[in-house]
Amino acid sequence: MNAYRTYLDGNQDRYLDELLDFLRIPSISALPERAEDVARAGQWVAQRLSSAGAENVEVLPTGGHPVVYGDWLHAEGKPTILVYGHFDVQPVDPVELWTHPPFEPTVVDGRVYARGASDDKGNMLAPILAVEALLRSGGAAPVNLKFCFEGQEEIGSPQIPEFMPAHVERFASDLAVSADGGQFSETEPLLLMSLRGICGVQIDVHGASTDLHSGLHGGRIQNPIHALTQILGSLRRADGTVAVEGFYDDVAALTEVERAAIARVPFDRDEYLCEVGLDEEFGEPGYTNRERGWVRPTLEMNGIWGGFQEDGIKTVLPNAAHAKITCRLVADQDPERIIGLLEEHVAQHAPPGVRVEVNPLSIRGRPYSIAADHWGNRAAAAVLTEFYGREPYQTRSGGSIPITGVFLEQLGIDTIGFGFGIEDENYHAPDEFFRLASFRKSQRAYVRLLEELGK
Ligand code: BES
Ligand code: MN
Ligand code: MN
Repeated sequence: MNAYRTYLDGNQDRYLDELLDFLRIPSISALPERAEDVARAGQWVAQRLSSAGAENVEVLPTGGHPVVYGDWLHAEGKPTILVYGHFDVQPVDPVELWTHPPFEPTVVDGRVYARGASDDKGNMLAPILAVEALLRSGGAAPVNLKFCFEGQEEIGSPQIPEFMPAHVERFASDLAVSADGGQFSETEPLLLMSLRGICGVQIDVHGASTDLHSGLHGGRIQNPIHALTQILGSLRRADGTVAVEGFYDDVAALTEVERAAIARVPFDRDEYLCEVGLDEEFGEPGYTNRERGWVRPTLEMNGIWGGFQEDGIKTVLPNAAHAKITCRLVADQDPERIIGLLEEHVAQHAPPGVRVEVNPLSIRGRPYSIAADHWGNRAAAAVLTEFYGREPYQTRSGGSIPITGVFLEQLGIDTIGFGFGIEDENYHAPDEFFRLASFRKSQRAYVRLLEELGK
């Protein structure tokens, strides 16, 4: 048996304990009161990278949540691989729906339950453990390695575009490998060919200087909630298409080849509807469910608030109303341009009698895509075929990893997905979990991927 496999097998108990330690840190990037926990998770990662044998490990300040760097650059003549992952996690509310407390990781039936178990702590640990096995068992890795682990992915990496220019040389590499991502099922692998971009706005509608009696003032002045719903209603047509002027201008049409590739990925409509608890789907006419979810742009309202929300009755004419909206973008849409279009649209559709503000959210991510036959994907496909006994599906994701656009624009490198989460693992939801079988498999698969990339 290979030395690294003996090493991995001999250290699985310790590795699991370490994963549980990592999962106990409540590194929720969205909550300001958790900033120290995000920093503590960064320290944990830095320490773990060092003990794995990485050199020049540093926690780099960004002005927001930090980035952890490390490298191992002793494979002369071999490519340099930038391993990526994130150590921040999503909020846990509604916490009462969790079977076990989200930051008290619990192992049940071969699964570890905790916030961040799959997205992305369990996944991002795999390449670190794989590299430790290589360095400790054989003293060398088959490629040069750099690591970039961030603490702000789940809030859209707001400081990364401004952080990266000062670190272009430090992160200079030939290819990024993202440990944030997944596989198709326990028995079927995938290649991730694209991610959508993202941008968003908050709409704030301001009315009178204070809440008022709705009997005394209703009918005499504008109501901010009515004004807001009028604006929101104008954003999307009844058929599900986005009504913002210019929204689709830069959307590259799907080629027949792309549509055929998407159609080759199995999709069970009834199973999907059962999973989401609905009996019909809804979306843009002329596109399949997969196309709507993977390669068409969307505008979704994420939250709306204002006025009286408690039980009972309060005859109030509220003085403000708010909504948060995000758009998922596809090639060649530009987040900044889309924000501009939203601002224009809202200005044109704002009814009289209120002051309407459009405040861009700090999230900005460009859509990202990579060819299936890219050299990185060919290496990933070879390894996945070896591990699963079948070739990977060519899939896409409706989700976003904003840093992929920064790697491409500022470092000039592509990113392949090499993660082992599975879509049923409740990412961002109560009872998030990661399969221990995936945790073990991912460590060996990472060793093999690095070997393939070094060939
Ligand atoms: N890991 C996800 C994105 C993802 C999910 C990629 C499934 C591939 C397959 C990532 O952590 C995520 O949730 N991203 C956010 C980004 C946002 C907050 C800017 C998303 O997509 O909502
Ligand atoms: Mn993630
Ligand atoms: Mn996520």
